[in-house]
Amino acid sequence: LSRSLGHEFDQFLKTVLPSMGLDWRRHRRRQVRRRVAERLRELHLRSLEEYHLTLLKNPPEAERFRTLLGVTISRFYRDPDMWEFIKQTVLPSLAGLPRAVMFSAGCASGEEPYTLAMLWQHDGPERTKPVILAMDIDETVLRRAEAGVYEDGCLRLLPKDLRDTYFSRQGRLLQLDPAVQSLVQFYLGDFTVIGPPKGIHLAFCRNLAYTYFGREERGRITQTFHQAIQPGGWLVIGATEKPDLTEGFEVQHPCVYRRI
Ligand SMILES: C[S@@+](CC[C@H](N)C(=O)[O-])C[C@H]1O[C@@H](n2cnc3c(N)ncnc32)[C@H](O)[C@@H]1O
Repeated sequence: LSRSLGHEFDQFLKTVLPSMGLDWRRHRRRQVRRRVAERLRELHLRSLEEYHLTLLKNPPEAERFRTLLGVTISRFYRDPDMWEFIKQTVLPSLAGLPRAVMFSAGCASGEEPYTLAMLWQHDGPERTKPVILAMDIDETVLRRAEAGVYEDGCLRLLPKDLRDTYFSRQGRLLQLDPAVQSLVQFYLGDFTVIGPPKGIHLAFCRNLAYTYFGREERGRITQTFHQAIQPGGWLVIGATEKPDLTEGFEVQHPCVYRRI
């Protein structure tokens, strides 16, 4: 089935994804096609038209479809140069606050919010209480995040001192320090529906909206961040991403924007 879905699959994506605010060209990967073919088999559906009708009639199935599209790969300390900037400029700017609210959209298996939590423990302002909220649409990755157990490959970019301080080896795997884990609160949700929480000081939206969403949806997301981030707060995007709408933000690093 998955092999026979070539051109037809592109047509399906072209019809369905724009109505979900997604850019269909970003999702033409073979892996997505294979996952959708598998889902068709599970639902005993014989064509993509039948599947499309099911998506329209059945919101939970549409939600499920979103998770089939997802790339959930992440790394601790992904884009090291950006994390250095966070350490040297962003975290010190939060000193003086009684509480700093930080947020990771599309947090995958926790690599991004846990990197932030580790940096906070190691170098963050001492008198400020960190509140780190992290969300994802995919329950499976959130379960992994809550377990806090990783393979070496995920930690390749992490500086050795952080790795030695905050991980303990358990055979082939590495367990994150529970004190770091306790700084992050994970929750399940669709970011396009619930958006970011209000009153945040530092938001991460990397390798999600500005890679996979359509132009209009990206603009809308930037606006919701503009409303949710405190004046002087920060928005961090992926190293290869470019939000086209930066009004109300000032570029401080190629992937770090400050809310004016
Ligand atoms: C490529 S990973 C990025 C992980 C991390 N932010 C990073 O840059 O390393 C994208 C994540 O976004 C999640 N995702 C996709 N669509 C989403 C949505 N509508 N709401 C919330 N999370 C979503 C996926 O499940 C996946 O875990």
